[in-house]
Amino acid sequence: MVAMAVTLKARAVFLGGPGAGKGTQAKGLAAAAGVAHISTGDMLRQHVIEGSELGQKARSYMDGGLLVPDDLIIAMVESRIGEPDARSAWILDGFPRTLPQAQALDQILGSDPTRKITHVIYFQVPDQELTKRLAGRRTCAKCGAIWHVDNKPTAKPGVCDLCQGSLTQRSDDRVEAIGKRLQEFHAVTAQPLRAYYKKQNLLREIDANRPPAVISQELVELMQ
Ligand code: AP5
Repeated sequence: MVAMAVTLKARAVFLGGPGAGKGTQAKGLAAAAGVAHISTGDMLRQHVIEGSELGQKARSYMDGGLLVPDDLIIAMVESRIGEPDARSAWILDGFPRTLPQAQALDQILGSDPTRKITHVIYFQVPDQELTKRLAGRRTCAKCGAIWHVDNKPTAKPGVCDLCQGSLTQRSDDRVEAIGKRLQEFHAVTAQPLRAYYKKQNLLREIDANRPPAVISQELVELMQ
């Protein structure tokens, strides 16, 4: 993982299947570089916990492994990306995920070169590996740290090494929901968005089926 501070002025989109490691990398890199980490999955889960109107609308889609409707997601991101900490640099993790979301993001950012996307990174991981990662993922309920029962275990099972919080399994990491999420990813995200960003000359594809520290290093080199 990124162990030291890095300088980054990137406005980057992390694209990839469920469990590809977008959150692991975005969290580490954003913390090391002091840039905003905007994860639509984390934001939605917070809305669900708080029981907000958006959370209530989003919950059944998320539990079923389906995408939340574009209008709800776009409004949420537009408001977040307008906040002061996201003015010059950010990492978008999990957004956009559909062509209308990508087009809406371009409209929101406008033509100002200091606001536009600088990098789109596609995390390549085979489906079989994605399934293993999701089924073994555990998240700290207190600090949000991401662990894995085999790949990144905690010293004491069920307890976060960083803050001693309890580890939980996401409701959409159940086998039935994982299959649905992979289907959705291939149908509406992978090909359409890679084609969209390739056309804009922004797309970089990385082999994300390697150890996290190797991927972090490559991301820093790509984005610095
Ligand atoms: P979201 O939270 O965005 O889920 P996702 O895209 O399916 O991605 P994940 O968070 O599952 O995986 P990740 O790539 O971040 O992997 P991680 O680093 O955790 O979205 C959840 C739901 O919200 C969606 O299904 C949808 O309903 C809704 N939603 C969100 N955004 C939306 C949008 N834009 N439009 C519509 N709906 C939206 O890693 C996974 C595991 O693997 C961990 O255990 C980790 O330790 C391990 N791991 C990570 N890297 C490696 C590595 N290199 N090698 C081995 N293990 C690794």
